[in-house]
Amino acid sequence: AETKRIAIIAGDGIGPEVVAEAVKVLRKTEELFGVKLETESGLFGGIAIDERGTPLPEDTLEMCKRADAVLLGAVGGPKWDNNPKELRPETGLLGIRKALGLFSNIRPAVVFDCLKEASTLKPEVLEGTDLIVVRELTGGIYFGDKYREQRNGVEHAVDTCVYNVNEVERIVRQAFEIARTRRKKLASVDKANVLETSRLWRETVVRVAADYPDVELEHVLVDNCAMQLLRRPASFDVIVTENMFGDILSDEAAMLTGSIGMLSSASLGEGSFGLYEPVHGSAPDIAGQGIANPIATILSVALMFKLSFGWHEAGDVIENAVKSVLDAGHRTADIAVDKSKAIGTSAMGDLIVAAMKR
Ligand code: NAD
Ligand code: IPM
Ligand code: MN
Repeated sequence: AETKRIAIIAGDGIGPEVVAEAVKVLRKTEELFGVKLETESGLFGGIAIDERGTPLPEDTLEMCKRADAVLLGAVGGPKWDNNPKELRPETGLLGIRKALGLFSNIRPAVVFDCLKEASTLKPEVLEGTDLIVVRELTGGIYFGDKYREQRNGVEHAVDTCVYNVNEVERIVRQAFEIARTRRKKLASVDKANVLETSRLWRETVVRVAADYPDVELEHVLVDNCAMQLLRRPASFDVIVTENMFGDILSDEAAMLTGSIGMLSSASLGEGSFGLYEPVHGSAPDIAGQGIANPIATILSVALMFKLSFGWHEAGDVIENAVKSVLDAGHRTADIAVDKSKAIGTSAMGDLIVAAMKR
């Protein structure tokens, strides 16, 4: 049987809860398609700090490098928030993205028709919304020099935002390529009226655009984009932007779909290898209660099948199963209009697995 190796790093909070449901989907895929998905698990994040004294143990990284793809839950929590930088879960997350060369983070925000009522926005505004945020993932202010120092006896904190032209060009090209496979519209988001990195960004986009005359390009300043996303979400197709803007805009875009619990992501480098994780975090406020929405993680598996394995049919089977379960009216609390009828994490996972059909 065709075999793929998947490294699983469930992490903290609701990470293990949602990953458990995604693993059920892996097993069902084996059954339906006669493929073999070898899984291996490793410690990552806060739990790795507790058990191994580091958020990203060497053997976990080695396990990921051996794999064809990585499935990640989420990391972080109040227990580790006041730790020094090298002992914070989030440092492990940035570390794994960098170490695996995953510079491109793809975050689709698709509004399911039956969930239009679940959003805080008016249903008619959401009609037809289907966009992808392409977020640069290994540069910018996340990875520039950071330090504290006293200047004339006053405490200073410094974060540096750095991009080189090659880092900008590779992500921008990828976004143009993705736009080409869709509605051929690209919005490049920057703060070119203020930031030097954004001026390099825009210059690069303009230069690369010459190779993509078939793609309609708009430049949008990030503050305006945050507003336009709520005003005219359906008009966006592909949005490409730098690391921190993409982080913020993708959480905003999540709310178009009804909940951050719906948003999947793929992190890619040059080859087919990828890391797949929900856009949301470890949700300490609901962890341990069995009520988290597993759909973001399950849809991340569909992305894995399509983008890393080229298994389009298997990816479609998952997406169709999610759609049919939602169409049948099943809801976790985050997307339920009537919260008293909400079902839990594992019930939602089981329903989706039961709905998976070739
Ligand atoms: P969060 O995404 O964890 O939670 C924000 C809100 O959304 C919370 O009210 C939470 O209950 C809700 N939510 C999130 N996922 C949900 C789901 N699947 N189903 C239902 N509700 C859901 O963001 P936060 O609270 O700002 O961060 C919590 C911790 O997670 C922090 O330590 C942060 O650093 C970390 N974090 C990790 C990742 C990651 O691992 N990729 C991403 C974001 C945040
Ligand atoms: C995300 C998260 C991370 C980020 C944090 C936890 C480091 O918010 O994956 O969106 O900012 O990239
Ligand atoms: Mn984020």
